Amino acid sequence: MTLLARTDGATETEPRSQEHGTGLRPANTRPIIEIHSLSKIYDAKSGPVLDDISLNVSEGSIHGIIGRSGAGKSTLVRCLNGLVSPSSGRVFVSGQEISALKGQDLRKARRQIAMVFQHFSLLSSRTAAANVALPLEIAGIAKETIRKRVPDLLELVGLSGKADAYPSELSGGQKQRIGIARALALEPAVLLSDEATSALDPETTEQILDLLKDINRRIGLSIVLITHEMDVVRQIADHVTVLEQGRIIESGPTFDVFAFPRSKTARSFLSSIVAHDLPEEVTARLVQEATGDTDPVIRITFTGSSAHSAVVADLVERFKVRPNILHGRIDYIGGAALGILTIVSENTGPRLSDILSYLSSLGLHGEVIGHAVRPAVTGAHRAAH
Ligand SMILES: Nc1ncnc2c1ncn2[C@@H]1O[C@H](COP(=O)(O)OP(=O)(O)OP(=O)(O)O)[C@@H](O)[C@H]1O
Ligand SMILES: [Mg+2]
Repeated sequence: MTLLARTDGATETEPRSQEHGTGLRPANTRPIIEIHSLSKIYDAKSGPVLDDISLNVSEGSIHGIIGRSGAGKSTLVRCLNGLVSPSSGRVFVSGQEISALKGQDLRKARRQIAMVFQHFSLLSSRTAAANVALPLEIAGIAKETIRKRVPDLLELVGLSGKADAYPSELSGGQKQRIGIARALALEPAVLLSDEATSALDPETTEQILDLLKDINRRIGLSIVLITHEMDVVRQIADHVTVLEQGRIIESGPTFDVFAFPRSKTARSFLSSIVAHDLPEEVTARLVQEATGDTDPVIRITFTGSSAHSAVVADLVERFKVRPNILHGRIDYIGGAALGILTIVSENTGPRLSDILSYLSSLGLHGEVIGHAVRPAVTGAHRAAH
């Protein structure tokens, strides 16, 4: 669709070599958003709401930002479109330093940075088509051009038949589609979405996420997606940043962050999707140090093609251990399988490091997460499995 082909000729300024997280950005992509040491203090008494944030968003990516209420997510995106000015640090979008622009220049730069909101923010007195036309009118685009462009935008979001409907005649999902069409009217380089699906039911959420993913693929639009729902990130984001109290606690490719969360907080946050937590009866007898009465508890993470390998049978055969499965599940993140299997390895003896090396040779990640004290009563032991 030529209407929405990217037209910005922005060049990269101040390239950064540092990127958060475990993954590497492909060499042929440049950051569409660069955030350098961004801090925001609204009120000196309550401390920074954003605290030394540095982050790149690759062009053409869908970057999820998650965090609990009050973590600073909305403040962060408002810094990206200049609605909030940083207390310190710099923000570049499409090569332009948003944090240094004011007045007319900022308004012009904002055309590159569209936004969709949780409550759609449509004008109730205007039809769907007239809502989509609004940013074009404000930008002074010729009436004739607007008349041609609006139907294309409605088609892009699958609502050609609703041009003359008023917002009150549309469902939540349809209103959000209009919000997205309006956001895309000025051919932005970046779409910021602040909880755009939070007011929608799960099925409609899925449809809107599919639409965003489709638009991302079709026109290469970069999307920054704020959400407090891990499932939204899992479904569409290729990168994710976890914010807590204004700081980045995890950032990287979604699969890596989900598979190997490094901080305890991120791990608990992620456990709604990927169960890293063991049943209570197991954690109750988990200790840090091995003794003569304990067996190692090993968490094995399978990624990609190794997800279905018969590792438990392998361990029995090679090491003559008795691996009891405590917990296991497979999740699909961005279409890739992520399996997590937690076993307590009885009869391990001194072979623990050999077992871990063997797992590693299979391309699996094995981690001893503790040592389970052997239950005194055999019956209770059986029940725990
Ligand atoms: N304009 C403002 N003036 C003063 N404090 C503010 C302002 N906007 C946000 N804050 C404070 O900054 C902190 C972060 O708010 P923000 O809205 O960025 O969080 P959030 O992660 O988007 O939360 P939620 O998930 O609830 O939307 C909160 O403590 C909030 O009270
Ligand atoms: Mg918010």
